[in-house]
Amino acid sequence: MTEPQMELREWALRILSANVLEEKLLCPHVLTDEMPGAPVIIDEPARPPGMGFHKRTKQQKLPPFQDLKKEENRAICLHRFAGHELLAVEIMAYALLAFPDAPKSFRKGIAHTLQEEQEHVRMYMRRMEEMGVHFGDLPLFRHFWNHVPHLTSPTRYVSVMSLTFEMANLDFATLYGKSFASFGDESSSQLMGKILQDEIRHVSFGYRWLNNFTTEKGPWDTWIANLAPDLPPKRAKGFVLMEEPRRMAGLPDEWIRNLKQEAIPSNVPQFGAKPQLLRNVDDPQVAPLD
Ligand SMILES: [Fe+2]
Ligand SMILES: [Fe+2]
Repeated sequence: MTEPQMELREWALRILSANVLEEKLLCPHVLTDEMPGAPVIIDEPARPPGMGFHKRTKQQKLPPFQDLKKEENRAICLHRFAGHELLAVEIMAYALLAFPDAPKSFRKGIAHTLQEEQEHVRMYMRRMEEMGVHFGDLPLFRHFWNHVPHLTSPTRYVSVMSLTFEMANLDFATLYGKSFASFGDESSSQLMGKILQDEIRHVSFGYRWLNNFTTEKGPWDTWIANLAPDLPPKRAKGFVLMEEPRRMAGLPDEWIRNLKQEAIPSNVPQFGAKPQLLRNVDDPQVAPLD
């Protein structure tokens, strides 16, 4: 479904009220921003049947790295990641509606990023189809959306979305890409590589705007001050921190040093990582967990 022209506001509303996936992935040829209107706060996005938020149980952890030899387990990972991408689409649409008075170039940047997140959903869907899995076959979770009530300003938006969740994906995309390749799944590995390249730009967008929004505090302290109380800084990294993609995103060495000093995320077990496997990841940046 392609429409020739649409206002950002209408596009965002349609994405958040869509109950079919095609509408979530709607991408007009030309997007305009002449009538951003008054702020609109959406409590929860509509979802296609069967794709609503489930409560995640302990049994629904991602399979551990050593079990990714099995294609069905790799498909489970891709399905979870596709769910994250769909949440990113929806949160970016949320931001377009919540911050109509933000600078036009900021809104344009979010719109561009949103389109790339839509493409990420499509890429995961295509790869999952090759593996015999349809998007929506497995449960989807609220995850990032839990933090949406905290996103009351563009500064908070870039702090939480770009500089925490997307920043952590620099590590996860790298690690899963390496893991998939180690089990001979080049297609899935290349997909993670493409996602990584895009996420580097998304983090860069967030960092540039954080600097624009920063006043007397430096960017690091501004970031810390704009995180939600239940979102510690360590959530901005995976179980290992990849320095190079952060440098490519334009983050200064000081930021990387500061982030390294934050504790390892307590959500490590949900990814089922085993320290001995991390040692096998072929990257000098990778430090063992123990
Ligand atoms: Fe993405
Ligand atoms: Fe992203």
